Amino acid sequence: MDKIEIIGGTPLEGKTFVSGSKNAALPILASCLLIDGKIKLNNLPLLSDINSMLQLLNHLKVYTNKKGQDLMVESFYAKERIAPYELVRKMRASFLVLGPLLARYGEAKVSLPGGCAIGARPVDIHLDGLEKMGVEFSIRDGYVFGDVKSGLIGADIMLPFPSVGATENLIMSATLANGNTTIKNAAQEPEISDLAKFLNKAGAKISGYGTNKIKIKGVQKLHGICYTVMPDRIEAGTFALAVLGCSGNILLKNLNREVVMHLKKIFGEIDELNISSSNNYKQARVTVKSMNKRPVKLRTEIYPGFPTDLQAQLTAAFTISNGESEITETIFENRFMHVQELLRMGAKITQVGPRVKIIGQKKIYGAEVMATDLRASSSLIIAGMMAKGRTLVNRIYHLDRGYENLEQKLSTCCAKIKRM
Ligand code: EPZ
Repeated sequence: MDKIEIIGGTPLEGKTFVSGSKNAALPILASCLLIDGKIKLNNLPLLSDINSMLQLLNHLKVYTNKKGQDLMVESFYAKERIAPYELVRKMRASFLVLGPLLARYGEAKVSLPGGCAIGARPVDIHLDGLEKMGVEFSIRDGYVFGDVKSGLIGADIMLPFPSVGATENLIMSATLANGNTTIKNAAQEPEISDLAKFLNKAGAKISGYGTNKIKIKGVQKLHGICYTVMPDRIEAGTFALAVLGCSGNILLKNLNREVVMHLKKIFGEIDELNISSSNNYKQARVTVKSMNKRPVKLRTEIYPGFPTDLQAQLTAAFTISNGESEITETIFENRFMHVQELLRMGAKITQVGPRVKIIGQKKIYGAEVMATDLRASSSLIIAGMMAKGRTLVNRIYHLDRGYENLEQKLSTCCAKIKRM
């Protein structure tokens, strides 16, 4: 079982590139089931979650051929319509094949994803929306059986909560439905816009993506294309919070305007964190002068607010500060698994319901800790780089789900970090 060892206390100095977005690539890969033709994807991140999705697509008889960050996909021979438990349980985003399977075959059998460390994560919003498009569902033995033999029909759908995955499943289904679909209270994350741009390039008719009202005109078929996945805004934000925690100066490469503007917005209240970008927004320099920073009061929000996927990393960065910070998690019900581990490093954090209060310390101390989920693992790495002494992070397979060679990228920025 891999571990990562960190000797803390050095500022981050150097440059690194940001990989393609995991949360854009996963729905885009699932949507390849909708397309009759060859697809070439570039800038795919090298992650175990991507490999899990490719394994599922191969199980569905989709041809894939990966060369580094580039991938060829062809669904021409796909005919399997069952997504089995042993594959879906590894990664809940596998549930994103439900919509495309229903659109392609008129039926599907997909394992319920089950909960995970950060919450129950039900799929009721996905199913309710698809029912409005004519799908009949039954649930038994831990599987969702969907049937829409007469074909999906366009519908007006109002989401009770702007679920990212449900918005993606509904967009994908609606591209090949009969008639027009409107999704109100839709999620507005940039990864959804990347999926819409990918599908529009393949011949779909999607408008309003990036707003809370998305319209899709059903078409007969989609054709093969070549597409480059957007940069990963959560990886970029993780690097920025690592500099905030350790101080220093790093240059982030392979960005775009939307990601840079998002970073400037979500970190706007943190005066010590300075983000300056190149004119073409492909690069951004993150600088933080010192580790003494004023405390913050922040809430995670749906996009364009502060992302829940950066909450654990923010919590780590503020374990050292001049005062009491307050962070409220509004999206998931149990996303504070990293707190127990940070306490073992000398952090002073109390949790009351969805809120943590962090009493900033002058120092925190290296310890052996355990990663519990993807973003908790990057939070512990940030804490280890801030801490005095040696930190050992166990169960690092969580990290490899969503970060491509993070320890190598950080060591090129002077961090004393290595995989054991
Ligand atoms: C996506 O998960 C991301 N994953 C998550 O990133 C991210 O944290 C989340 O969106 C929120 O931004 C991918 O894109 C692969 P949701 P998703 O449906 O689609 C509740 C990471 O670290 N809900 O917007 O599962 C749900 O329980 C991962 O990269 C329902 O109640 O998120 C949660 O409390 C973690 N019923 C809230 O909505 C439903 O049918 C947000 O879930 C669906 C969701």
